[in-house]
Amino acid sequence: MTEAPNPAQMLPDPTAGLEGVVAATTRLSDVDGQNGVLILRGRKIEDLAGVVSFEDAVMHLWQDFGFTDAASMARAFGDARMTAFDVVPLLEGASSSLDVYERMQLGLAALVLNKDLPAPIAISGALPVFLAASHRIATGLKPIAPDAGLTTAVDLLRMLVGDIQPSGYSDALDRYLVTILDHGLNASTFTARVIGSTQADMKQAILGAMGALSGPLHGGAPGPVLDMIDAIGQPENAAAWITDALDRKERLMGFGHRIYRTRDPRADVLKAGLQLLGSENPKVQLAENIENEALAALKRAKPDRPLDTNVEFYTAVLLDAIGIDRSLFTPLFATGRTPGWCAHVLEQQQTGKLIRPASQYVGPKPD
Ligand code: ACO
Repeated sequence: MTEAPNPAQMLPDPTAGLEGVVAATTRLSDVDGQNGVLILRGRKIEDLAGVVSFEDAVMHLWQDFGFTDAASMARAFGDARMTAFDVVPLLEGASSSLDVYERMQLGLAALVLNKDLPAPIAISGALPVFLAASHRIATGLKPIAPDAGLTTAVDLLRMLVGDIQPSGYSDALDRYLVTILDHGLNASTFTARVIGSTQADMKQAILGAMGALSGPLHGGAPGPVLDMIDAIGQPENAAAWITDALDRKERLMGFGHRIYRTRDPRADVLKAGLQLLGSENPKVQLAENIENEALAALKRAKPDRPLDTNVEFYTAVLLDAIGIDRSLFTPLFATGRTPGWCAHVLEQQQTGKLIRPASQYVGPKPD
């Protein structure tokens, strides 16, 4: 074998990260990073989030796959929650070393799919149950059974907290779930499509997508955003704290995006959702102050690089204001994104084509 390093290996790999590579055609969502526009199947995100319910937004996304009746969709999600609760004793008996996310994955692996409920509904309806039950188990509380007659957002908060929360809270959560429903061919969605393309079942594709989302480069920023807000503490500390962080070459969490070269439209949709929760929350006012200081400081520090607020900044602020623990931010993101993943799997499977790209071999050659 010839082991001498190939000079080609030393060059930057133009395919690294598949940046700019078109790997699917889709009718589901379009991310226009130059203009800051996100479209879900023909409608702008700001015309869906806060306007239609999570269930209706899911139906809008799924309409090419035979889901067209809004009333039956809401009922089916309720039925799916009831079915999923049968798995909860298994979650209660599982090792205490599992975190909430791993327990949700365990629940999904154990979920029995049958002909009574289409797999996308059974899975999308199950994750809120697994999330709430896993959180209660982790905090030493008894899981609460779902109520099939409630909406996903109302029932999810009820299963977490124990009783029905003020409508502003569930409306804000509903808005969040719609906002994150789908977002082009990100890493977890691509993963779901790859697994779906093998004709593996929907459960396997969603488990794989959850695996991809668990990495800190993908689903993990809102927790650190809240850490940053807590570390700043008071509005008068913001400017100095941010300047020091940028001087140390640190990144400000909740700012910048791989695709958006302007404001992430989801940031404004979530910021508007804060109005549902009243204006007295001092952390919300602190966050707005930090955002203004951060945008000004980023402009000064990186005048040639447009760096604006991304979805994670107001995700953190909104979920915290609803009272959701920061350990649940990524589990909740997975819960809201699951119907989007399911749609991509269905769309990929309609093509009937296995995803199987090529690689360029740059290793040693046999003598
Ligand atoms: N704070 C300070 N500087 C930043 C930030 C930031 N948040 N984001 C980018 N920059 C700077 C980089 O330091 C770099 O500067 P340099 O050229 O002088 O080295 C320049 O901008 C370009 O950075 P890249 O990493 O090449 O840009 P990319 O588009 O790949 O990064 C990313 C996108 C990873 C989101 C980045 O903006 C970041 O780290 N932001 C903070 C973390 C965050 O909020 N993540 C959530 C993103 S939204 C989501 O995932 C759903």
